[in-house]
Amino acid sequence: MCGIIGCVTKGNCYRYLISSLEKLEYRGYDSAGIAVLSEAGLAIRKKKGGVKNLFGEELSGRAGIGHTRWATHGAPSDANAHPHVCGKFALVHNGIVENYAKLREELSAAGETFLSETDSEVIVKLIARSYTGNFFAAVSSACSRLEGSYAIAVLCEDFPEEIVCAKYKSPLIAGASSSALFVCSDVPALSGEAEYIAAAEDGEFIHIRGGEIDFCDGAGRRIGKKFSKVTETSLGGRRRCATYMEEEIFEIPRALEDTLAWLNAADFAPCARAMRQAKKVFAVACGTAYHAALLFKDIVEKEVRIPVLCHTSSEFRYRDPLVEEGDLVVAVSQSGETADTLEAARLARERGGFVLAVTNVSCSSLSSLADFTVVMRAGPEIAVAATKSYNCQLLCLYYIAAQLCFYKKTQMPAYMPELASLPEAARASFKTFPAMDMLAEKLRGAQSMYFLGRDRDVRTAAEGALKVKEIAYVFAEGYAAGELKHGTLALVERGFPVIAVSTRADLAKKTENALEEVKSRGAYTVLLSQYGFMEESCADFKCKLPSVSEPLMPVISVIPLQYFACRMCLLRGYDPDKPRNLAKSVTVE
Ligand code: AGP
Ligand code: GLU
Repeated sequence: MCGIIGCVTKGNCYRYLISSLEKLEYRGYDSAGIAVLSEAGLAIRKKKGGVKNLFGEELSGRAGIGHTRWATHGAPSDANAHPHVCGKFALVHNGIVENYAKLREELSAAGETFLSETDSEVIVKLIARSYTGNFFAAVSSACSRLEGSYAIAVLCEDFPEEIVCAKYKSPLIAGASSSALFVCSDVPALSGEAEYIAAAEDGEFIHIRGGEIDFCDGAGRRIGKKFSKVTETSLGGRRRCATYMEEEIFEIPRALEDTLAWLNAADFAPCARAMRQAKKVFAVACGTAYHAALLFKDIVEKEVRIPVLCHTSSEFRYRDPLVEEGDLVVAVSQSGETADTLEAARLARERGGFVLAVTNVSCSSLSSLADFTVVMRAGPEIAVAATKSYNCQLLCLYYIAAQLCFYKKTQMPAYMPELASLPEAARASFKTFPAMDMLAEKLRGAQSMYFLGRDRDVRTAAEGALKVKEIAYVFAEGYAAGELKHGTLALVERGFPVIAVSTRADLAKKTENALEEVKSRGAYTVLLSQYGFMEESCADFKCKLPSVSEPLMPVISVIPLQYFACRMCLLRGYDPDKPRNLAKSVTVE
């Protein structure tokens, strides 16, 4: 669920381990640990809490593994932190061993005693027990007993310059530079270190030995892999801002430009048949990406006039979804590693659907299982709260909807040429930030708030509310303005903040009515719109948005809300980059 790193270096590996773990910190974790292997054997340091708890006397050795843990089995504690050790072996594990209880019982009956409550410890015990001198074979044999998900990296005292790794449903990437060979769970862990990377597929193993990286199958047969030059990992050039989240908001115009350039150069021909023939279209995603998927539904239904069934990925596989042979299934995920979205995409493929992935990470698990991948060029998103990736997801989805329209109706939607204006409009949206600073100052003490909208603005309202919840810890709901009187209105009292987004001229009056409704019950009302009619609005606080063509407004109108949430968070004394209880990449169910 969280992060792993492994490296074999020409000099000492300690520095690499620590700096890579620090680069993984943004994902959220509860404990960290390293194992360093030298001729003298294994040295382990592991602690509950931050990577800084591992600082101290340098451990020396050329091969090492490291871990940031997001506990799934056993509370965060020093003992449960990885690496776990058995005999000559040390192991780090990301994922969940679903049959661990059975394995633990079997191993206990065979005389093993466990030092932790984790599911992961059974893996290192299985490895140690099947070891007869062949390191790789022991790891492979242990893996054949596992159910669930894993990316593991293992050290063995008999092989001081080797690491054996295995991957199944958790990400694992190999990286190389002239001074070190790496494995990791997430490309940014190698930023500034590796020059070339290659991702492992499910069921594959990575064996670092003799100064080389071998990708193998379970029997140890080599698999040819093409390494690609690292381009997405450079986190350099930072930073204008104190936090990644602010920095990433300011990157939105650049991210949109790069994404648009990618889209304009992309060849959608491999999707032509699927798009032409698809009787049904699905969209699956979680969290922020789900809001993007909902907008995709809105766009396709408006422009192509075919229904889109939009599901949160975590529900999809439990609903016996209606996917059939030839359906088009769009899976949206910034990380491309969200377990629920991967499972939804897998199920869709099993049923004969054509899976079109929209992701920010070209070598992600999602892109390797998809039939076609659209790569947004947002660049690494470090802050847990998604910002620039959302704007880029929307851009990609507008583009995909346009392709669908073309293949179904042989015409492009009218908004297509307007997409080019989005980066500039995003830049112009920064002018709203002083107003958002004032609004955040005004509302910093709020306990809860509503965001309202109609049509596509409902999606923006939902996204604005999610941002405020996850980083400012203010309860918020995003609602269709017309739904107020069906229940939510009951909570409105003096000073209750209600923020309305109103970007459709023909619906503006109706949104205004909703504001009147809450204002007359004492609410503090806020209106965001690109139109001049704002002047007549009853809202207590008004913020003028830059204008792009109406259908594209969601890409822009969300930016002040992203910034507002970030300001609220900072004013309330929290760190927007690492919200409590949340991880950047949710790689377990
Ligand atoms: C967004 O601010 C959240 N951190 C979260 O909802 C996120 O969008 C969700 O977990 C999906 O992640 P993904 O895009 O990497 O699949
Ligand atoms: N399931 C393992 C544990 O609870 C690994 C969690 C992780 O991926 O960080 O220790």
